[in-house]
Amino acid sequence: MISEQLQVSTRTGLVILQLAIITLALTGLCEGQAARRRKHTIDKQPFGKTVDGVAVDIYTLKNANGVEARITTYGGIVVSLRVPDQKGKFDDVVLGYDNLDGYLKNNGPYMGALIGRYANRIAKGTFKLNGVEYHLAVNNGPNHLHGGLKGFDKVVWTGKALRVPNGAALKLTYQSKDGEENYPGNLSVAVIYTLTDANELKIDYSATTDKRTVVNLTSHSYFNLAGQGNGDILKQQLMINANRFTPTDAGSIPTGELRRVQGTPFDFTRLTEIGARIDQDDEQLKFGNGYDHNFVLNKQGKRLTLAATAYEPTTGRQMEVYTTEPGIQFYAGNFLDGSITGKAGKVYNRRYGFCLEAQHFPDSPNQPKFPSVVLSPGQRYTQTTIYKFSTKYFGVRRQSPDLSGRRRRFGSRSTFE
Ligand code: GLA
Repeated sequence: MISEQLQVSTRTGLVILQLAIITLALTGLCEGQAARRRKHTIDKQPFGKTVDGVAVDIYTLKNANGVEARITTYGGIVVSLRVPDQKGKFDDVVLGYDNLDGYLKNNGPYMGALIGRYANRIAKGTFKLNGVEYHLAVNNGPNHLHGGLKGFDKVVWTGKALRVPNGAALKLTYQSKDGEENYPGNLSVAVIYTLTDANELKIDYSATTDKRTVVNLTSHSYFNLAGQGNGDILKQQLMINANRFTPTDAGSIPTGELRRVQGTPFDFTRLTEIGARIDQDDEQLKFGNGYDHNFVLNKQGKRLTLAATAYEPTTGRQMEVYTTEPGIQFYAGNFLDGSITGKAGKVYNRRYGFCLEAQHFPDSPNQPKFPSVVLSPGQRYTQTTIYKFSTKYFGVRRQSPDLSGRRRRFGSRSTFE
């Protein structure tokens, strides 16, 4: 009898204990989730006013790993992007200014900005659509560049923080009026920046129009994986997933040829130092003053695929670029000339940053063989491009140089995943 009672009370005790453990575990889980949610944050602050008195904001997006992106509503500019190196040290890896004034007065290089309506060049600023000839601003030698005199990089976007499960997100919208910069159609544009917990800066673009028009949007960040202002990018390595590129004339307008990169300084199909061949005696490099060319990505259709990988050996930082676009402009910062003093007083000399601008090919409105950039009413322009940060480490061989002639093995990991 007594032993039966004992058994019952032991069983009851066990059940109570189990319930208590489950309750505790559930509470912990909920708190854990709440903490996780708390970890990716978005915060809005005033960033000054344009010359016309329009208020500009800056949003700070943080993910669960402490990666931080600051994005302003002026030009949708990525002002800073702090990511860790292989030791966990954070650094800002994009060029730019500390305050709005710098961008308002001196952003000739389009640092960090959203570019539109047409990123890159349109020959002589002219194209035909529905039998009408359109004349755009000629702002780059004889050609049109990056949307004209007041492109999307110089307008104030409307910002809105979004709730997403996997990171911090900011939605920017802009209504571009019919005739703005002489482009046809009212264009409604939305860009969502998401800083994910997988250390990606994801950019989702979309646009609709009420009249046939041309659209080609991109993002123009200058990356320096050693940290902004910390020297040139010539020793940083690059892989571009492209067997062909679009050679240009002396004014950087594609000739229409899709040329094989094999056997040329444009072969980045394997990780190669940016500076290894940049000053070779090559006509295309002379035209671009270095690399300033569109690469034809190895892909079919609009799938999100790996376009490029950049790697900085001293910090181990790696950036992969994924995109749905058919091309990517690789620009090696050839026109930076030390005339800009950017964030934290750093001077940006020649080739202190590189751009990987996912896009349609330059001058597509005049190149019938290039993928179309025409958007009609009822259609939606979409693009997704992801800049994903991680660190890469060389295994045990890192300390001792490999003299065996065998390829060094290396691994790749996301620092804080
Ligand atoms: C683009 C162009 C370059 C240059 C920069 C801005 O990347 O391709 O030629 O104009 O923008 O300086």
